[in-house]
Amino acid sequence: MEERILSEQATTEEVSLEQSLRPHSFHEYIGQDHVKENLKIFIEAAKIRNETLDHVLLYGPPGLGKTTLASIIAAEMGGEMRSTSGPAIERPGDLASILTTIRPGDVLFIDEIHRLSRSIEEILYPAMEDFCIDIVVGKGEGARSIRLDLPPFTLVGATTRAGSLSAPLRDRFGVLSRLEYYTREQLKQIILRTARLLQTDIHDDAASEIASRSRGTPRIANRLLRRVRDFAQVKGDGTISLPLTMDALDFMRVDRLGLDHIDHKLLKGVIEKFNGGPVGLETIAATIGEEAETIEDVYEPYLLQIGFLQRTPRGRVATVSAYKYFRMEVPKR
Ligand SMILES: Nc1ncnc2c1ncn2[C@@H]1O[C@H](COP(=O)(O)OP(=O)(O)OP(=O)(O)O)[C@@H](O)[C@H]1O
Ligand SMILES: [Mg+2]
Repeated sequence: MEERILSEQATTEEVSLEQSLRPHSFHEYIGQDHVKENLKIFIEAAKIRNETLDHVLLYGPPGLGKTTLASIIAAEMGGEMRSTSGPAIERPGDLASILTTIRPGDVLFIDEIHRLSRSIEEILYPAMEDFCIDIVVGKGEGARSIRLDLPPFTLVGATTRAGSLSAPLRDRFGVLSRLEYYTREQLKQIILRTARLLQTDIHDDAASEIASRSRGTPRIANRLLRRVRDFAQVKGDGTISLPLTMDALDFMRVDRLGLDHIDHKLLKGVIEKFNGGPVGLETIAATIGEEAETIEDVYEPYLLQIGFLQRTPRGRVATVSAYKYFRMEVPKR
């Protein structure tokens, strides 16, 4: 199987590495200025009032720094971050046992919050609104509900699909922040920072090159940097120069816009097999052998962002820019 530059999640070896590369303060967190400035004010205000920060929903494509931001919020509030995820909370007891370990001012981080089941959501509502939960103890005749008071805390939810969140849950967040793709300059700063932490020499133009092939995404920027560093150590003297970077990225089949072979397959599929569309997501998925959900969450957002793909009520359409990029003749529609 071919290697993937774009995987939905961090790989296992990456998780611990990501930990060590993670910025710990707003100051170190590059970009997302609008989100950051807002959060800083809300945090400041909460501190002045001696209250906890309102619940925060962070949404946006994978790898843009949602988890990182949640941990910075916890640090800025002077609390600890307790992490869990939508799929990990199967039973009410799973949620209750985390909620009861929370201390005043802590952040409860729920990743993939759109995957919580309705019954769990319902336990969460009073926890978010009144800082209490109702849990049922005992079975059958003897079952009774008891109310547990919780310390004030901040729920930070993260999701790649804000649209899949139920309205009642979404409405209970006081702050909704959408993370945007990073600019090339911001990614370059992130790459230079990571190189510093990895104690790797990198030329300025090489950092720019990696940045422009990172699809606006810090996780991908860091991933490409580490691969290029491997190349530099094996094929060169360890220094990351521009020529070496070009060779390495070409070898990894990451093109100059950061598109990989799956993006190519997807776009060329729409163009060649469906005359540029419109074609439904499920059909595309079946044609290129990928999960519809992966296409929607991981591949498509960037192709929409750079204007290569459009979503219409009748399906996905390849744009003129996409045709031009592949030097293909634009059909008359
Ligand atoms: N603003 C930033 N500045 C510097 N590095 C960043 C920034 N945002 C993210 N990173 C780096 O990118 C990596 C991925 O970020 P993070 O895990 O927070 O993304 P995520 O949005 O939670 O992704 P997912 O949706 O897959 O959970 C982290 O290791 C972090 O080092
Ligand atoms: Mg995350």
